[in-house]
Amino acid sequence: MALEIWSETEEFLSGLLCPPDPDLARTVHVSEQADLPAINISALQGQQVNLLAKMVGARRILEVGSLAGYSALWLAKALPPDGRMVTIENNPLHAVVAADNIKAAGLADRVEVRVGNASDQLALLVSKKGEPFDFFFIDADQHNNVTYFERCLQLSRPGSVIVFDNVVRSGEVRNLETSNGAVRATQRVLELVGSSGQVDGVVFQTVGQRGHDGMLVVRIR
Ligand SMILES: C[S@@+](CC[C@H](N)C(=O)[O-])C[C@H]1O[C@@H](n2cnc3c(N)ncnc32)[C@H](O)[C@@H]1O
Repeated sequence: MALEIWSETEEFLSGLLCPPDPDLARTVHVSEQADLPAINISALQGQQVNLLAKMVGARRILEVGSLAGYSALWLAKALPPDGRMVTIENNPLHAVVAADNIKAAGLADRVEVRVGNASDQLALLVSKKGEPFDFFFIDADQHNNVTYFERCLQLSRPGSVIVFDNVVRSGEVRNLETSNGAVRATQRVLELVGSSGQVDGVVFQTVGQRGHDGMLVVRIR
């Protein structure tokens, strides 16, 4: 019953706040046709990260976990014309579908899909000592979230924002006895954020089509 209300409410809010977008609709369609898992963020969550990226004036965005490029498109649409985005994906099929969707949306000039393991790709970016990123969206294999957090810190500047998806997982995050490595890694990231003098962080809990979950939003001091 609760899920039905959350779901219908999210649909209602999306209808009002997320204008129809042919690029995003095509991405969902192509993803279904290619039989990719339907584990992308929702439209309302897309609007959420798009707005957060705009609020920090993001010119350089880094995403971990492209899937079909749905969240990448929401984020890329927050960039100014000379902005740049890198999205990392280790599944070659997902990466091809994402790159095609980004190209079809006319955003291939500013979004690069990097194929490979995110830990390695992030280490590579750190070693290149390029310009820092303003906004990060982490939505991949959660058991590596601590590594992703550490690498993002290395790739950030004061004022950068790091967003982690799926940190609440129906409240499982509060289970300190859990043997689930993904949850344990997220718990560790939350401990690091809470005890660090380097960042401020908050979790926005959400209910909706994907049940009870939440995003961790961290700002570098
Ligand atoms: C939840 S999906 C991403 C959904 C996407 N952010 C969206 O909302 O449209 C997670 C993706 O991360 C990828 N992934 C998982 N482990 C990874 C790793 N170690 N390195 C890079 N990508 C990884 C998966 O193949 C999958 O496509």
